[in-house]
Amino acid sequence: MNEDAGREGIVNNEDAVRDEDAVREAAVEAALARLDLDTKARLLGGQDMWSLPALPEIGLASLVMSDGPIGVRGVRWTADDPSVALPSPTALAATWDPALARRAGRLLAQEARRKGVHVLLAPTVNLHRTPLGGRHFEAYSEDPLLTGAIGTGYVQGVQDGGVGTTVKHFVANDAETDRFTVDNRIAPRPLRELYLAPFEAIVRNARPWGIMTAYNQVNGVTMTEHHHLVNEVLRGEWGFDGFNVSDWMAARSTTGDILGGLDVAMPGPVTVYGEALAAAVRAGEVGESAVDTAVRNVLRLAARVGALEGAPPVVAEPPAALDGDALAREIARRGFVLVRNENAALPLRAGTVALSGAAARDARVLGGGSAQVFPEHVVSPLDGLTAALPAGSLSYTVGADPSGELAPADQGFTLRARCRDAAGRLLGEGSLPNGQVQWIGDDLPAGVSHENLASIEVVGTFTPRESGEHSFGTRGLGAFTLAVAGTTVFDGVQTMGPETDPFEAFFGSPVERARVTLTGGETVEVSLLHTLDKEFAAPLPAVMFSFVHLGPRRDPDELITEAVEAARTADTAVVVVATTERVESEGFDREDLALPGRQDELVRAVAAVNPNTVVVVNAGSPVALPWREDVAAVLLSWFPGQEGGAALADVLTGAEEPGGRLPTTWPGTLADAPVTDVTPVEGQLAYEEGLFIGYRAWDRGPAVPAYAFGHGLGYTTWSYEELSTGPGTATVRLTNTGGRAGRETVQLYLAPADDPVERPARWLAGFASVEAGPGETVEAEIALPRRAFEIWDEEKNDWTLVPGTYEVVAAHSLADARLSTTLEV
Ligand code: BGC
Repeated sequence: MNEDAGREGIVNNEDAVRDEDAVREAAVEAALARLDLDTKARLLGGQDMWSLPALPEIGLASLVMSDGPIGVRGVRWTADDPSVALPSPTALAATWDPALARRAGRLLAQEARRKGVHVLLAPTVNLHRTPLGGRHFEAYSEDPLLTGAIGTGYVQGVQDGGVGTTVKHFVANDAETDRFTVDNRIAPRPLRELYLAPFEAIVRNARPWGIMTAYNQVNGVTMTEHHHLVNEVLRGEWGFDGFNVSDWMAARSTTGDILGGLDVAMPGPVTVYGEALAAAVRAGEVGESAVDTAVRNVLRLAARVGALEGAPPVVAEPPAALDGDALAREIARRGFVLVRNENAALPLRAGTVALSGAAARDARVLGGGSAQVFPEHVVSPLDGLTAALPAGSLSYTVGADPSGELAPADQGFTLRARCRDAAGRLLGEGSLPNGQVQWIGDDLPAGVSHENLASIEVVGTFTPRESGEHSFGTRGLGAFTLAVAGTTVFDGVQTMGPETDPFEAFFGSPVERARVTLTGGETVEVSLLHTLDKEFAAPLPAVMFSFVHLGPRRDPDELITEAVEAARTADTAVVVVATTERVESEGFDREDLALPGRQDELVRAVAAVNPNTVVVVNAGSPVALPWREDVAAVLLSWFPGQEGGAALADVLTGAEEPGGRLPTTWPGTLADAPVTDVTPVEGQLAYEEGLFIGYRAWDRGPAVPAYAFGHGLGYTTWSYEELSTGPGTATVRLTNTGGRAGRETVQLYLAPADDPVERPARWLAGFASVEAGPGETVEAEIALPRRAFEIWDEEKNDWTLVPGTYEVVAAHSLADARLSTTLEV
């Protein structure tokens, strides 16, 4: 694509950029000089969950931040404030296309501007060290080069739109277990060559306006206080000049944080900065210059995003508007990875299709936790295929429903919230799109404040779709009284365990409180009274709980039988299997890679009666696919975002090619995966494997993965014809030998001959995508920078080139080398 398309208004002349930088710096200095110590200290702490205080006296607007990374949630955690939901970061990385990531970034900037957000809390560039990482879906890859390249495109795109980013979580927040305290012990080489590498690439190539420091410690120092990694490495060596914000509630020491280079402590209003910081300066514990440095970084951010009067924003006019639905659909299909396609099962042949799987109807389009946004609409696989296939050719059965879990009351419920004070007086009412109440900071119904609010009653009606035994329950901490059809079915208190993550109330499990037999179509009254109790106060000024429900459970054997009967007579069977929110979300790690519920059984049973079975895997991270050799095709759709079903129809029908390549090795079983321990011992988690994560470890054998790094099939074939190298670059000539136009991601790996130092057998050194029509020959140019031949020398404390002979391999995937040559360095 044309990189400059739609960039009108973006200053791209270097002298002009320098001049504008100078004007912004002057405005920053002038504003700083007008602030007293207390105001400066106040500016560095959140005023609420998502923003910093405005300082009208210097023309500074309140800076607003929001998650990230697949959409822009905005300052309200509710379906009332929808956002475009793009595919999961794993899907974006599977496109291997930094230019597409850049367009994603521009769309997100557009969403941010629409919602008055100045800074997007993204991208997540921690590595896929282990498939058990709970936020695996939210990070890009096991490979630092690919992660850095996608992250660079993303940050450039968001900033093209004049919105800041916070590259996160700096550094080594690669798993969730004990994430607030874990001390990750990492030797200098893997720290530099793996975990810091994506941050370094993004800082050098995209100049991000922000970074987020992680909860965890690295080598004994908590990341918000890591003077060495923040002040010396990030700012000193790499020249980062943006602002450094703590992960939410990560800042725990006033002096430690300010001296460790942390500019902003979030969220507020209670933080370790503000009054505590001013007092520390007055007590002589910290010099005021440290506070000035942090304020300068915040003001520079404000200047860049246009929130400081007198400073020209970096982007005066945002780029041309993008169509969110179209881009979400494009990224989804470009990220789908077709890992198996026997007998050209895909694209679908003409005929009937039997679709099954709960996720085919209730699509799981995004991962849980802070990455959650609320799309305005979702296109499920059932919706997408219904629209794309001839009328009467598609049937649907549930087959297996892995969720089996209570979820916020939604279908058939009409609910509102009544807020009362301690004396029982009604303060106000709020609308509720579903049973989830998440009021953070000032986002409360009119007339209600955290000070006067004592109880919330969710009240309304429920008209069930189906007759049978319905489950009702609660999610969250505190006292609850639940009533269904005029009867109180639960009255009790949910307490918090001693070790629970303070975000438990957000992400914790729903608890069943009662089962009530109801008749389909008959409306009943429901209510859930939640009385606030200081003992269970959320870690922030927030009200967070849910009224949860689950419809009547069907007999699982019967569900499978139904799907099998439908599949038996269809020309093709398509089974959608998925993880659930209890499997992949923030705040905890996975325990295994198995698909939940009876989905494996469903696939086996369907494949037994239909040789033309296509399985779509709707998961953000690797799952075990024990039946993978017994089905005709396997397509990984990740969490495909709001247009996932439309993109799926595009790819299944062959209107479009699936474009993805695996950004991470897909293990056959958990036991084979190289790194599977995420549990700290006495607070420490040793990264004992050193340099050997992902394919760097798989290459040492003996286990062989289910699918190799870089693997992914399209609908055409490619012949690699010539590989040549020149100074700092390699060129690959290849021809599309198939019958249709296609896109190929050419991957370049380096393998050192007789290595004088310990290094992986091979590593990704570069990649590029080409497009060609049938019979057409094209060239891919791939940069081979010096860094590809360097290691971090622990003695010199610097990068050092390792001279010698290198095999340069042009490949379709790590397991599918096509051409090679050697290079003397
Ligand atoms: C997450 C961050 C997120 C922040 C704000 C934290 O729990 O780790 O990634 O940006 O919350 O929601």
